[in-house]
Amino acid sequence: MISEAGVRVKVPASTANLGPGFDTLGMALSLYAWIEMKPAKETEIHLYGDQMKGIPTNKSNLIYEVAQSVFREAGVSLPELEISMYSDIPLTRGLGSSASAIVGALVAANELIGSPLNQAQLFDMATALEKHPDNVGASLFGGVITAVWDGTHAEYLRIEPPIDLEVLVAIPEFQLSTSKARQVLPEQVSLEDAVFNISRTSLFTAAMASGRLDLIRSAMQDRLHQPFRAPLVPGMARILEEATAHGALGAALSGAGPTLLALTDRREQRGMELERFLIEVLSEQGIKARTIWLNPCTQGAQTLTIEKGVKFIDSIEGEVRS
Ligand code: HSE
Repeated sequence: MISEAGVRVKVPASTANLGPGFDTLGMALSLYAWIEMKPAKETEIHLYGDQMKGIPTNKSNLIYEVAQSVFREAGVSLPELEISMYSDIPLTRGLGSSASAIVGALVAANELIGSPLNQAQLFDMATALEKHPDNVGASLFGGVITAVWDGTHAEYLRIEPPIDLEVLVAIPEFQLSTSKARQVLPEQVSLEDAVFNISRTSLFTAAMASGRLDLIRSAMQDRLHQPFRAPLVPGMARILEEATAHGALGAALSGAGPTLLALTDRREQRGMELERFLIEVLSEQGIKARTIWLNPCTQGAQTLTIEKGVKFIDSIEGEVRS
C-alpha cells in the first residue's frame, strides 16, 4: 500500500575501515541527513543546505534512481516523486555521504510502498550500489558493524559501541574521491601485512564488543591502505603516529579520506589538546580543516512521523547543525 502522506527518514553519517578493517568495519556517527519522499504528479526534487550544491534535481538524482530500483525490485510503479533532502554530512570527505543518501533513499522508498523488502534485502541493494558494506551497513543498522560481501549478498554483525567512546573528526576543506583513493592501493599484499591487518581487525572487533578501550591503540593500526593513501592527505602520517600522545585512543583515516578520525575516552578530558594537535599538523601542511566532536550513533536509519501542515525544512529545524 502506497503512503500518500509520504515518509521521512533520518540517516546517520558513518566512518569506514577504522584503521585495519578495510571494506569491513564501519561505525555510525551523530551527524545526519534527512530525506522525505512523497508520491507526486510530476517529479520535484528539493535539496537544502550548502552540502547539496551541484547535485542534480532531475530524474538523474541518486535518491530518485535508488527509489526507482526499490520499486522495480518490489514490482511497483511509482514514476513521479516529490523528494526533499537536507544533509549535514560533508560530501566526498570520507564520512559516508553517498552511503547515507543510498540508505535513506532505500529505506524511504521501501516504507513509502508498505515495506515489502526486508532489512537484509535493503542491505544487499545498498552494498551492490556502494560496492562495499562498511558505510552502508553502519548507516542502515547504526552502532559498529563488521560485514562481509560476496558480490551478491552481505552479512553483518552489529556491535553496541562502548559508552565512553567519543569521536573527533578533522575534516579538510578539500575533497578526495573514493575512486582516486582506491587507485593508489596495491593489487597484492604480503602474507605478513595480511596477517598484520587480520589480527588487528579481529582485536578491534573484540575490543569494541567487550568495551576494552585500552586495546584500541594496537588494534587501530593498518598496513593495507593508510600507508598508500598518506601522500594524498599531507600531515596524515604524523597524525596517525602521534595522536595517541595527545590523548587519542587511536586514529585513522575515515573511510577513503581525507577526513581524519580520532577515537577518545570521554572520561579522559584531553579533547582540547587533541583538537589543537590535529588542526596544527594539518595547518602546517597548508590544509584548512574543521573539527567536530561526534558520538557513535547507536541507531541506524529511522523513519520519522510527518506532522501534517509542517514543511520538511521547518520540521528538522533545531536538529540540524548549520
Ligand atoms: N572502505 C572504503 C575505502 C570506504 O576505504 O575505500 C570508502 O567509502
